[in-house]
Amino acid sequence: MNRHGPSTLAVHAGAPAHAPGRPLVTPLVSSSTFYNAPEPEGEVLYARYANSDAHRLLAARLAALEGTDAALAVGSGMAAISLTILSFAGAGDHIVAADSLYGGTRTLLTRELPRLGIETTFVDPAGRWRDALRPNTRLLYMEVPVNPTLRVPDPRPVAALARERGLPLVVDATFATPINWRPVEDGVDVVIHSATKYMGGHSDLIAGVIAGPEAVVDQARERLKAFGPSLDPHALWLLERGLKTLALRVERQNATSLALARWLADHPAVAAVHHPGLASHPDHAVAAAIFRGFGGMLSFVVRGGDEAARAVLGRFALIAVAPSLGGVESLASMPRYTSHVALTPEQRAAGGIDDGFIRLSIGIEDLPDLREDLERALAPEAR
Ligand SMILES: Cc1ncc(COP(=O)(O)O)c(C=O)c1O
Repeated sequence: MNRHGPSTLAVHAGAPAHAPGRPLVTPLVSSSTFYNAPEPEGEVLYARYANSDAHRLLAARLAALEGTDAALAVGSGMAAISLTILSFAGAGDHIVAADSLYGGTRTLLTRELPRLGIETTFVDPAGRWRDALRPNTRLLYMEVPVNPTLRVPDPRPVAALARERGLPLVVDATFATPINWRPVEDGVDVVIHSATKYMGGHSDLIAGVIAGPEAVVDQARERLKAFGPSLDPHALWLLERGLKTLALRVERQNATSLALARWLADHPAVAAVHHPGLASHPDHAVAAAIFRGFGGMLSFVVRGGDEAARAVLGRFALIAVAPSLGGVESLASMPRYTSHVALTPEQRAAGGIDDGFIRLSIGIEDLPDLREDLERALAPEAR
């Protein structure tokens, strides 16, 4: 099965062989528990342990898509991140992480993990990771691409350093999806996704994914059993269904967001456009080297700052003003009020989040309709 392309894997990987009478669609089994074999040495089947048939099917599909030995679906992207980190690090240990991360991950690293005795040093992802290593460093962590600036720090030198030191490199590749990028092909050891976003794809579930070597996934499963952020069977069913259209959705989102980025770059009301597919993007060469597609995310800066940007949001008719991303419907947000609200104005400016910064998650609507919505919102006086 793993010789098949990603669209085929997204539909079929992990599914049982064809057999008369077997349902085509994975049954939604809401049972929390299962009849166990009477022998005490048999595996205990229980929904929290992620070992139901549906869980195993989904895990096999995710591993096939990522090209990893194993995978595990859990209750949220944050659960995937924390279970992975806690599989490698405990009291007295140290992490080196990129300084540009999703706000929730940053909070985990700066506020929660220190309470457990785990310290993190943040580095410029394009900078000298080597200098931050300590004898007690247990993992390297980064996000590719970065939210919301869509910078694409090159994971390859970090992976080479990780290999040299025998440390795992963990990458949150939520924005890329396995359709646009298979991180393990560039030396990444463990891949994380907020499956809430593109993998689910319909803004109707919360889930996370850990994909990597069998031993790492086994460790994460042990943490899952103990800490308990398991994936609810109904969300699991929606996620498995959503995955079937992942490639189609992402291909459309790639094309539409690049077309809109090019169009916005020439718009007089727009001061800057951030999209890794544009030749003007500072990491275009890295993105072109590692990605098969540049993704459905697009950020731009409105001339006139915060007030002008808020007015633009207020004029969208089709594009919904909402946090999150990766769904079939286009969403807009201002990171200064959502994911990056905790940053000071200086930190925001240093991170490239100007006052008029708007982040768009492009959905699967028709390109002319989205362009019209943007045009109306950007130039109301022209209509
Ligand atoms: C890049 C990234 N990683 C992780 C998360 C957390 O995912 P979840 O909300 O599924 O816990 C998010 C959420 O926005 C995200 O954008």
